[in-house]
Amino acid sequence: MDLMDAIKQRYSCRAYQDKPVEADKLNTLFEAARLAPSARNSQDWRFVVVTNPETRNALQSAAANQPFVGQAPVVLAACSCTNKRMNLCAQPYASVNVSIALEHIALAAVSLGLATCWVGSFKPQQVRQILNIPTDITVVELMTLGYPADKGASQKRLKQNEIACYEKWEF
Ligand SMILES: Cc1cc2nc3c(=O)[nH]c(=O)nc-3n(C[C@H](O)[C@H](O)[C@H](O)COP(=O)(O)O)c2cc1C
Repeated sequence: MDLMDAIKQRYSCRAYQDKPVEADKLNTLFEAARLAPSARNSQDWRFVVVTNPETRNALQSAAANQPFVGQAPVVLAACSCTNKRMNLCAQPYASVNVSIALEHIALAAVSLGLATCWVGSFKPQQVRQILNIPTDITVVELMTLGYPADKGASQKRLKQNEIACYEKWEF
């Protein structure tokens, strides 16, 4: 699939078919993550792949009880092992690196007929406890994954000239 097609087709999926995601597709997704760029090539992302229904339900509770979190056949807990390391630009390695890799996963998922939703509304301490994640690991985001059972509604987006200017700040 063409990259721009995958970008255009991706949407936040909040209803999934009751169908597992094949192991070879998961492998392709983690290959997409593995090849992502990261500050100083730190590759600090670590993913916990959750398919167990009871664990998914527990994650749903930790994620503001959003129903699609328990319903999705796979929930990824995207973590970073750089703890509080910062770039010179004062941005944390953890959230920047993990987010890049996670969006690689989201776009690769579209190319495989899968759908995803980023989940930032969750209590990290609770997720840490459920998944036995050590305290020096940052839980950056959750992502649901599976075959879609809904169709994405098109979301409003800003115009290009509202998000990019040339040579000097002109917003
Ligand atoms: C960092 C991040 C956190 C998000 N957290 C949630 C969430 O907790 N629950 C949810 O339903 N959607 C969540 N979303 C999805 C956004 O609401 C969605 O991307 C946005 O409304 C645009 O819609 P689209 O993804 O369908 O294009 C999150 C997205 C991002 C990037």
